[in-house]
Amino acid sequence: MINESRRGFMGKAFGAVAAVGAVGSLVAMKKTWDPLPSVMAAGFTTVDLSKLAENKLEVVKWQGKPIFLLKFAADMPAVEKRSVKVGEHYYSVMIGLCTHLGCIPAYSSGNKQFKCACHGGEFDAAGVNTFGPPPRPLDIPPFAIKDENTIVLGEAGAEYQQLIAALSVEQTKA
Ligand code: FES
Repeated sequence: MINESRRGFMGKAFGAVAAVGAVGSLVAMKKTWDPLPSVMAAGFTTVDLSKLAENKLEVVKWQGKPIFLLKFAADMPAVEKRSVKVGEHYYSVMIGLCTHLGCIPAYSSGNKQFKCACHGGEFDAAGVNTFGPPPRPLDIPPFAIKDENTIVLGEAGAEYQQLIAALSVEQTKA
């Protein structure tokens, strides 16, 4: 009798501990899956471009994806069909996922190129694939220019639409 009630108590105690653990795990998993609060709120990420240094890659998150922002230095050739002029400067704005199998390429300021460690793919500073298996340039996320220092990711502004239209024409010609 005593043993049975003790077993019952122990069973309930273990059950309670397991339930608390399960709830804790679910909360932790949800935190991992959720995007950043600012992104989740409206699907937009606002970036202050005045903080960017020339030829130094800045990575921000938009909808769970890494977005590459690269401010061109004066000695970098402007690739006008893929770069964006905001204020006085040209920038690359690209989704930082290799177009081969989705690894995140690394930027080398010295070589002014992106290199993907997974299979050796390379992209120039404007995100154009120059070597290896990537089948196309890095993708460009929707963006809108708000003023000479502010860009909003997730909003398809006029400059984004012009850029995409020009790239589509180019792809049709090729
Ligand atoms: Fe980048 Fe294969 S994933 S080269």
